[in-house]
Amino acid sequence: MKFYNLLKKYFSNNEDEEKKPEVAKKSGLDQDKYLDKLELSYLFSIFNLYEKVRELPGHIVELGVGAGRNSILFGNLLKITSQHNNYKYFGFDTFKNYTDKDFIENPSLIKNKNKWDDNSLEYVEKRIRSHGLESICTFIEGDIRNTLDSFLNSPNLKKSADAFHCKLLYIDTSSYTPAKIGMEKLYDHIVPGGIISIDQRSQGGETNAIIEFCNEKSLEVTTGTFFNDIPAYIVKK
Ligand SMILES: C[S@@+](CC[C@H](N)C(=O)[O-])C[C@H]1O[C@@H](n2cnc3c(N)ncnc32)[C@H](O)[C@@H]1O
Repeated sequence: MKFYNLLKKYFSNNEDEEKKPEVAKKSGLDQDKYLDKLELSYLFSIFNLYEKVRELPGHIVELGVGAGRNSILFGNLLKITSQHNNYKYFGFDTFKNYTDKDFIENPSLIKNKNKWDDNSLEYVEKRIRSHGLESICTFIEGDIRNTLDSFLNSPNLKKSADAFHCKLLYIDTSSYTPAKIGMEKLYDHIVPGGIISIDQRSQGGETNAIIEFCNEKSLEVTTGTFFNDIPAYIVKK
């Protein structure tokens, strides 16, 4: 029941209940949520990004899971394109908000200081189960500064014996160091043609990290072309 209330809170708008047609009142959800320009353009950008890597071998890694929105999107995309037997989604997060180090390094995060306080791994896993994606999506809890190494050294966690190949590294930490460490540690695991992408519309830590990383490695960084598209990404040669 708690989960349904959360869902209802997330999808509902402030529209006057009385003015809604019966069909909308019955569902209790805002039917137009996904027809909103921002929502729709975001989904379009994610689908388009996935399409660029769909035919490549490799997993999807997301740094910064939040409440699991992209886990559900990428998990479903792997499933509906029948790639989920071989390729999985791995999501990294503290599941407790940014770390103190992140707030110090990225002062702009302080304006939404408590945004992710109520998040938890239990909540995200429950959400994933309700979408039937638990065999596709795996979560790694903790500060990305510490968890990436242990993940790459753990055959059980990464679900492969010695190798780990990744076709998409999607970075949404909003903070600099976890984004930079992610690129540094995972770059060698990205398959040729694979993509490293950031999700930061208002420039900050992730943007600095990708530009710095490209300068250090002499890589080309590019941007999506549609409204509300992926702000910056690298295609590995
Ligand atoms: C913008 S949210 C992610 C939103 C999510 N990708 C989505 O699509 O809804 C940023 C997330 O990054 C996580 N994060 C930031 N710094 C982190 C770190 N050092 N280690 C682990 N997670 C971190 C935060 O806990 C937060 O959940």
